[in-house]
Amino acid sequence: MLPSRLPEPRLHLPGTGEPSLRWGIVGPGWIAGEFAGAVRTHTAQRITAVASRSRERASAFAATHGIEHALDSTEQLVSHPDVDVVYVATPQSEHLAVGLAAIAAGKHVLIEKPITVTAAEAKTLAQAARAAGVLVMEGMWSRYLPQASVIRQLIDDGVLGEIRTVLADHGQAITADPQHRLYRPELGGGALLDLGIYPVQFASMVLGPPTRVTAVGGMTKTGVDAYSTLVLTHEHEAQATLFSSILARTPMTAVIAGTEATLSIDGSFYVPTSFTLSAAEHGGASLTWSDPTDLRLFDGLSWEATALARFVAEGRTESPVHTLDENISILATIDEARAQLAAR
Ligand SMILES: NC(=O)c1ccc[n+]([C@@H]2O[C@H](COP(=O)([O-])OP(=O)(O)OC[C@H]3O[C@@H](n4cnc5c(N)ncnc54)[C@H](OP(=O)(O)O)[C@@H]3O)[C@@H](O)[C@H]2O)c1
Repeated sequence: MLPSRLPEPRLHLPGTGEPSLRWGIVGPGWIAGEFAGAVRTHTAQRITAVASRSRERASAFAATHGIEHALDSTEQLVSHPDVDVVYVATPQSEHLAVGLAAIAAGKHVLIEKPITVTAAEAKTLAQAARAAGVLVMEGMWSRYLPQASVIRQLIDDGVLGEIRTVLADHGQAITADPQHRLYRPELGGGALLDLGIYPVQFASMVLGPPTRVTAVGGMTKTGVDAYSTLVLTHEHEAQATLFSSILARTPMTAVIAGTEATLSIDGSFYVPTSFTLSAAEHGGASLTWSDPTDLRLFDGLSWEATALARFVAEGRTESPVHTLDENISILATIDEARAQLAAR
């Protein structure tokens, strides 16, 4: 039986008592611009500093986004007295080093996905964060969207019954340029670390860590994974099938199928979207849900920033909905998949 109505999302609404933290951005590239716009428009947070490897690029970004301090090194930014929290938006290869520098300076850190390149790096980061007592969180913004809150409540309330299947895909045709960071092994390129992490973290949120990982796919000429299907085996007859690609755009939908109901998330499942909950029996009842807020696409990056400020106020050092141990486990799955793909 489906419930008569779906739960309300538990939102981290801006201006509801969370501190207005001062943010510094490292890596003023594409996503940093989207993040700065979302934060400025949809949160009570303030971006006070930006650091680039070039002062010109830092100044240009600062001018575009109304940021006071334009700096030309990570060191200057993490030690700046006007910065409480560092947002790391560099390529994946730099996440650990910048994260450790911020932690050493006693700052909270939001690190773009993937939090690091490997599970071993994530362990190093987690140890440093725990020793310093600062909050370190992956910028896996999908976890902080309204739909994620509703989906977690439905799972916790047992509405889906025993969950047996997760299906999710993330394929994009961003570029075929072999010089782009996505194609470069030394920058942590490849589909799995950049796009596949969305389906993998989704399966992890629903089913926890797998007992076995099987990956089938192909590599680019530059030596990173180009496309793959991962089959994750879980306890209790559950399985996740996850696809990612940097070669072609796929529907980017996600499904959670349980013994009582099936939840189908409309593409793109990792941004603010809608879903349908259908009773398991053929032709049974269904309920639809769509994001009730005005925030669309990358506006949704604002939720994670407000969530972080609230977690800081609560004295937390980890995200309660995406712990550092879960980050390590997700990267262990990706490590294993990447190793299998590289060995074929
Ligand atoms: N949440 C999301 O939806 C989302 C979407 C896209 C990307 N991301 C993540 O965000 C991060 C950045 O991605 P992006 O697409 O914004 O990349 P991007 O446009 O290439 O920007 C990255 C910036 O990092 C700086 N940087 C520092 N060290 C670098 C190095 N060794 N090589 C190249 N650049 C370096 C560069 O700025 P300077 O040269 O000025 O220092 C560059 O502009 C990645 O971790 C990615 O996975 C997240």
